[in-house]
Amino acid sequence: MQVLRVTGGARLHGAVDVVGAKNSVLKLMAAALLAPGDNRIGNLPAISDVAIMRQLLERLGCTVTESAHDAVDQVTIRTPAQLNHEAPYELVRKIRGSICVLGPLLARTRRAKVALPGGDAIGSRPLDMHFAGLERLGAEIRVEHGYIVAEAPDLRGASIWLDFPSVGATENILTAAVLAKGTTVIDNAAREPEIVDLCRMLVGMGAQIDGIGSSTLEINGVDGLTATSHDAVPDRIVAGTWALAALATRGDITVRGAVAHHLDIALDKVAQSGGDVEVLADGFRVAMDRRPKSFDVVTLPYPGLATDLQPQAIAALAVADGTAMITENLFEARFMFCDEIARMGADVRTDGHHAVVRGRERLSGAPVRATDIRAGVGLVIAGLVADGITEVAEVHHIDRGYVRFEEQLRSLGADVERLESTSFGG
Ligand code: UD1
Repeated sequence: MQVLRVTGGARLHGAVDVVGAKNSVLKLMAAALLAPGDNRIGNLPAISDVAIMRQLLERLGCTVTESAHDAVDQVTIRTPAQLNHEAPYELVRKIRGSICVLGPLLARTRRAKVALPGGDAIGSRPLDMHFAGLERLGAEIRVEHGYIVAEAPDLRGASIWLDFPSVGATENILTAAVLAKGTTVIDNAAREPEIVDLCRMLVGMGAQIDGIGSSTLEINGVDGLTATSHDAVPDRIVAGTWALAALATRGDITVRGAVAHHLDIALDKVAQSGGDVEVLADGFRVAMDRRPKSFDVVTLPYPGLATDLQPQAIAALAVADGTAMITENLFEARFMFCDEIARMGADVRTDGHHAVVRGRERLSGAPVRATDIRAGVGLVIAGLVADGITEVAEVHHIDRGYVRFEEQLRSLGADVERLESTSFGG
């Protein structure tokens, strides 16, 4: 069991590069199922979720080749005329993002058998909106022996109102609707930059989509799509993680290759906290020279503050001056992270979907456990502002979403190493 061993004290200083977003690339790879031929996706992050999605696409009949272009990874997905329609449990259970093959498979093969996904332990993640939307398009869906079995001899456009702007439901409905007969309108659609990115790739394939970037998407189904080439949108969550790490450690980090505008609220919080935020043509810089001031956090669908930045924000707030109220509106179990950071001396109390963080001068290093990707990096940030040594176990979570995380940290001056097992004993 690998651990990241962090010796606290460093103020992170330097520049990092951000590549494509995990939460976009997985969906773009699945969307490649829609268009026979060679689909190229660039700005690819070398993370374990991408490797698993690759295996899944191969299982569905695609040939997947990775290469590098200007030192950045890219992938070519050769999609056959005939796809297999079964996404097996042993692959799907490893990544939540694999549920996004459901829409494309249904659109292409008119039937799909997709194992119920796994992914982060951040709370209950129902699929009712995915199913209701696809049923409106004419699919029949049942859950049998741990598999979603969907059949749609005839996909027809429909008007769909989502109860909540779910990212995954919007994506599955969108990727089925592009090949349905007639017009589909998705109201209260999610409008995350990753959804915009998916829409752009689909348009590149010949899909007809209006309202991209808004909460109403109108899709006119077409008979077929053609393979395309597309570069993934930069990872705003990774970029935001560096911003919060600079804030917490009183550092100075230039984040290259990011879109600052995708982090408007997060960077505004950093500025409220005393950070000096400079927007650059190709990213941004966050510099901090004193103890951060507390700020409140309310997680919401985009353009609200991302739930995927909540643990990293709590890590910064744990050493801030003042008291902060955190309201988590998406995933209730995300606060499991609070029990871990409390082991490091953080003063965090949770009640339902609220947490109160009273800032302390310093945390104290301890062995802790990553419960999901973002909790993992949140604990590493906490380790950087703790006295002594912190060991973050279950690093495989971090590897799901962060490219060479400890190498990047070391390049910024952190004392971090990967060990094969804990040195705390036991
Ligand atoms: C995606 C991201 C995840 C991010 C989340 C919210 C991927 C692989 N994961 O997850 O990192 O934290 O968006 O930005 O892209 N819900 C239902 N029924 C449904 C679908 C969702 O009740 O059918 C609820 C969920 O339980 C949650 C909320 O809606 O409370 C939002 O979930 P959703 O936007 O669907 O998140 P994911 O697509 O799973």
